Amino acid sequence: MNAPQPPLTNPLLALVPGFSAPHLCLGQYPTPVQPLPFLGAAWVKREDQSSPIYGGNKVRTLEFLLANMKAQGFTRLWGLGAYGSNHALAAVLHGRRAGLEVRALLFPQPATATATDNLRASLSHADGVLALRTIATFPFHILRLKLAGGSYVMPPGGAVPLGAFGHASAALELAQQVKSGLMPAPAHIVLAVGSTCTTAGLMAGLCLASHIGLWPGDLPVIHSVRVTPWPVTARFRVVGLARRTLLAIAQRGGPTLDPAGLPRLAMHGRYLGKGYGKPTRGGLEIAQVFADKGGPPLDTTYAGKSGAALADLARTLAGPLLFWSTKSSVPLPPDDPQKLQLAPAHVRRWLGI
Ligand SMILES: Cc1ncc(COP(=O)(O)O)c(C=O)c1O
Repeated sequence: MNAPQPPLTNPLLALVPGFSAPHLCLGQYPTPVQPLPFLGAAWVKREDQSSPIYGGNKVRTLEFLLANMKAQGFTRLWGLGAYGSNHALAAVLHGRRAGLEVRALLFPQPATATATDNLRASLSHADGVLALRTIATFPFHILRLKLAGGSYVMPPGGAVPLGAFGHASAALELAQQVKSGLMPAPAHIVLAVGSTCTTAGLMAGLCLASHIGLWPGDLPVIHSVRVTPWPVTARFRVVGLARRTLLAIAQRGGPTLDPAGLPRLAMHGRYLGKGYGKPTRGGLEIAQVFADKGGPPLDTTYAGKSGAALADLARTLAGPLLFWSTKSSVPLPPDDPQKLQLAPAHVRRWLGI
């Protein structure tokens, strides 16, 4: 695998006067913006193509976090999440490229096709996976890892200001794309919210883009589509992280921004269905529409649910709407059959092998 690129072009570092922070460029930017003609005035930001190694929103979540942990002298990372976690898998694949030892602590979830693909990849490429039998012991294991010391234990979903910096960078990148005429300024942005990191970072970044004169006119409304339940995705948690991100930007030399300048946030809970990881009929239907009409591929846990919201919103709101396509669409690296055979019996049963 290729080594990470030097951090030359991160928009937060390049465009925000005074701001500095350790950063590792793990992806390929800018991610393209494209029209979605089959949904009226909708466009898509191809975060699914953020890296040819493994794309999706989690690549940006990791950039400032991994740089910071390296700057603190850590060499071992524990990624956390569900069995099919994109965040844990992104940490495994990109963390190892960054020269880290990467392990994953995972709890069970519904065994969908994308979730089983991800777990096979995590088992194949991590330096170790602890796959719990139940979520009930997850907090205990996190505490145990933290008390043991010597490892950087990833905050769930990377939902801390350092994780959100990556998505603030994406908002500035979008502002540049709008400014250079690649797409009209969106009036609405639609995305899945799981840990709150991506939404909060985008909100902070848009506020910043407006402050530095990079955003033309009113900021778009952010439509966050719950893929994990309240209170994980409570509005106060999303806005709280956006505010802490603004504060952290100021603490690292950037401008001091008034949180009143954050964009409006609309939370959508009705696309969650029966819960995290459980496919919905609306998600499956819009995934089929995207597949038939040439949109990016949608998974059933995240992008299918936000895609279902997009389809509804596109019928009722005046555009332009922008769909934040968060699920990696690049092929996963090949499995390691030997490592899969060494997985515990409950994991092999879950994988159906
Ligand atoms: C594909 C995908 N989309 C969206 C999200 C939600 O992003 P966040 O956790 O930053 O709210 C996740 C989070 O796990 C994800 O894996």
